[in-house]
Amino acid sequence: MLPKIELHLHLEGAAPPAFIRGLAQQRHIDLAGIFDADGSYRFTDFPTFLKVYEAATETLKTPEDYHRLTLAVLEESAASGVIYCESFLSPDFCGGRDLGAWREYLHAIREAADQAERQMGITLRGIVTCIRHFGPDKARQSAHCAAETAGDFIVGFGIAGDETSGKPGDFAWSFDLAREAGLHLTAHAGEWRGPDSIRAALADLRPERIGHGVRAIEDLALVDELAEKGIVLELCPGSNIALGLYAGWRTHPIGALRDRGVKVTVSTDDPPFFHTSMAHEYDRLAEAFDWDEDVFRHIGRTSLDAAFCDADTRTRVRKRMEPENA
Ligand code: ADE
Ligand code: ZN
Repeated sequence: MLPKIELHLHLEGAAPPAFIRGLAQQRHIDLAGIFDADGSYRFTDFPTFLKVYEAATETLKTPEDYHRLTLAVLEESAASGVIYCESFLSPDFCGGRDLGAWREYLHAIREAADQAERQMGITLRGIVTCIRHFGPDKARQSAHCAAETAGDFIVGFGIAGDETSGKPGDFAWSFDLAREAGLHLTAHAGEWRGPDSIRAALADLRPERIGHGVRAIEDLALVDELAEKGIVLELCPGSNIALGLYAGWRTHPIGALRDRGVKVTVSTDDPPFFHTSMAHEYDRLAEAFDWDEDVFRHIGRTSLDAAFCDADTRTRVRKRMEPENA
């Protein structure tokens, strides 16, 4: 199994449904409507996905819950061969954007990450993420939490949520604050809106990476610009297919974007929601595009080069990526 680097994973979105059901039972929260008969998360499109996602987060109420969640998620990732992972962490769900509470949640997540590193050999770093449809004011509070806790673990700031709500410029202040605090930047764009949304995110937020960005393929001049500027795309093909953006693996633009010189990386986004894992993504891509080990090793190197961690961590992980060590 190839060692893998994952750059785009929402911590709550990676919560196994049984984990959330367990918490709901314990706390007498009625979540029956969000699960299918077989126990998996139930949604039909992106808006219902977001509703189910947010309903599930209602069960996560304490730092201890996040400690357990982090361990459960990293266990799944490690089982897929992931050795380095960056996860989106949202103060919105971790203490309601209160800085004191956020520090407690972060402490619990870090403790779990340290334990996972010792026990499973997987390294975690965090990207504080605001939620676009919660609006710019809440984003500012999240950015404040990010700036105050920036360091060797919190290495980035980003924006997720409903891309059809508002515009990137509304969040420029938050991104400026995060940049001034020394954080790396990424922004979800070009998933539910087209190329113009990516252009606006690049111009107004100045991120190094774009979350998804897959719809750049609708404008080849933009694709060439991404390639020239070395903007990294955090592609999540299984997520796009499960949410109905593309009909199947063969028609997913990852191959075309890569062929045209864009730096592409592969992630799962919210794996249990989309019945995927990093191993599953690699297997389906190998099948659909006839990609061999060299292609995946190249994707792994691109991903590690684009990781937001410090140089020592990158060097340490790079050693583990080398064929003789993996
Ligand atoms: N949050 C969790 N998954 C997401 C996605 N695919 N797009 C935007 N926000 C998200
Ligand atoms: Zn995402």
